[in-house]
Amino acid sequence: MASAAAAALLLLVSSFAFLSSTTVAAFDYPPLVDGLSFDFYKSTCPSLKSVVRSYLQQAFKNDVGLAAGLLRVHFHDCFVQGCDGSILLDGSAGGPSEKNAPPNLTLRPTAFKAINDLQALITKACGQVVSCADITALSARDSVFLSGGPDYEVAVGRRDGLSFATTNDVLKFLPAPSSNVTVLINALNQLNLDTTDLVTLSGGHTIGIGHCTSFQNRLFPSQDPSMDKTYAKNLYATCPAVNTVNTTVLDIRTPNTFDNKYYVDLMNRQGLFTSDQDLYTDKRTRDIVTSFAVNQQLFYERFVYSMTKMGQLNVLTGNKGEIRKNCSAMNTGSKFLWSVADGEGEIKGF
Ligand code: HEM
Ligand SMILES: *[C@@H]1O[C@H](CO)[C@@H](O)[C@H](O)[C@H]1NC(C)=O
Ligand SMILES: *[C@@H]1O[C@H](CO)[C@@H](O)[C@H](O)[C@H]1NC(C)=O
Ligand SMILES: *[C@@H]1O[C@H](CO)[C@@H](O)[C@H](O)[C@H]1NC(C)=O
Ligand SMILES: *[C@@H]1O[C@H](CO)[C@@H](O)[C@H](O)[C@H]1NC(C)=O
Repeated sequence: MASAAAAALLLLVSSFAFLSSTTVAAFDYPPLVDGLSFDFYKSTCPSLKSVVRSYLQQAFKNDVGLAAGLLRVHFHDCFVQGCDGSILLDGSAGGPSEKNAPPNLTLRPTAFKAINDLQALITKACGQVVSCADITALSARDSVFLSGGPDYEVAVGRRDGLSFATTNDVLKFLPAPSSNVTVLINALNQLNLDTTDLVTLSGGHTIGIGHCTSFQNRLFPSQDPSMDKTYAKNLYATCPAVNTVNTTVLDIRTPNTFDNKYYVDLMNRQGLFTSDQDLYTDKRTRDIVTSFAVNQQLFYERFVYSMTKMGQLNVLTGNKGEIRKNCSAMNTGSKFLWSVADGEGEIKGF
C-alpha cells in the first residue's frame, strides 16, 4: 500500500520534473556572443514574441509544411555567411528570387512570404527596430515549439547584412545530402560546430520533406545497402526513375511532429538522405543517434544548445549592418555605404 502510494508519488513528481524541465529555465545555453541577449527587445518591442507566435500558430494551421520551411531558412541563413538575413534577399543564391537553384537548395517561397508578413506586423507594433535575421531565428524557434518540440529562449540583437549570399558561399558551407559523416564533420568544423552538434542539428529532419533528386543517389543505379528493403520499395514507388519530380517526408514515423522519431528511423535504416543514414552507419556518430532515439528529453536539451550555437554564427551586432525595411531588399542606399564605411570588408557579392 505505502509503497504503491510512494511509487505513485514518485511518478507524479517525476512527471512534474519532466514538465518543468521542458520550460526555458531548464535548458543549458552556450555563452552568448557580445551584442546578443535574450532581452534585447524587452523595451523596444515587448510584444515581439507574442506577435510572432500568434501569427505562426494560425499560419501552421493552414500549412503545416511552413514550419519545416522556416526552420530550414534559419539553418541556411546561418551556414551561408552568418545569421544576417542575407538568404532572404531577392538576388541571393538560395533566396526568394532564385529560379535555377538545384533541388538540394530549394527553400519554400511560403517561408520567405511569412517572414515578410511577420515583419510588417512587427513594424506596425513596434516600428522598424527588429532585424530580419532575428525574425528568422524567432520563426525557427516557433516552428520547433508549435510542432511539438521544446520552447526555448532565442538570443537576439542580430543585424541584417549588407551583402548577398553567393552561389560559392552556398556550395562551400552547405553540405550535399549525398555527404558521408566525414564530409559532414569537416563541413561543420569550418563553422566551429562539433560532431555532437552535427547529429543534434540533423534532428531538424524530424519535420519536412525532400525531393527525389536529393536522395536518388541511394536508389540509382542501385539500392544503397544501408537502406531497409521495405522502405526502399516505397521510395522506388515515389521516385521510379532518375530525376522524377516528387517528394517524400523526412521522418516516416511522425512527419510533422518535432520529436526524436527521426533517430528511431535511422536505427531502423529508414533515414532518407545519405547524410542522415550515415549518422547511424558511422561509428563516430552512432552512439549519439542511439542516445537521442531512447531519450527525447536529451535530444531537446542538446537541440536548444546547438541551435543557439548555430544561431550565433558570424552575426552582425551593434552598429554593423542595418535593420531592413523590407526583408527581401537592402535599405535604399545601403549598397553605397561601403564606400564611406571603415573598410571592414563586410560588403561583397555584388
Ligand atoms: C547536416 C547537413 C544537412 C544536410 C545535408 C541537409 C540537407 C537537406 C536537404 C537535401 C533537404 C531537402 C531539400 C529538398 O529536396 O527539397 C533538407 C530539408 C530540410 N532540412 Fe536539412 N540538411 C542538413 C541540416 C539541416 C539542419 C541543421 C536543419 C535545421 C536545424 C535542417 C532542417 C531541414 C528541414 C526542416 C527540412 C525540410 C524543409 C521543407 O520541408 O521545406 N537541415 N535538408
Ligand atoms: C546540389 O546539387 C547539385 C546538382 O543538382 C550539385 O552540383 C551540388 O554539388 C549539390 N551541392 C550542394 C551543396 O548541395
Ligand atoms: C566520404 O566521402 C568522401 C567524398 O566523396 C570520400 O572521399 C571518402 O572516401 C568517403 N569516406 C568514407 C569513410 O566513406
Ligand atoms: C509520387 O509519389 C506518389 C506517392 O509516393 C506516387 O503515388 C506517385 O506515383 C509518384 N509520382 C510519380 C510521378 O512517380
Ligand atoms: C520588398 O523588396 C522586394 C525586392 O526588391 C520587392 O519585390 C517587394 O515589392 C518589396 N516589398 C515591399 C512591401 O515593398
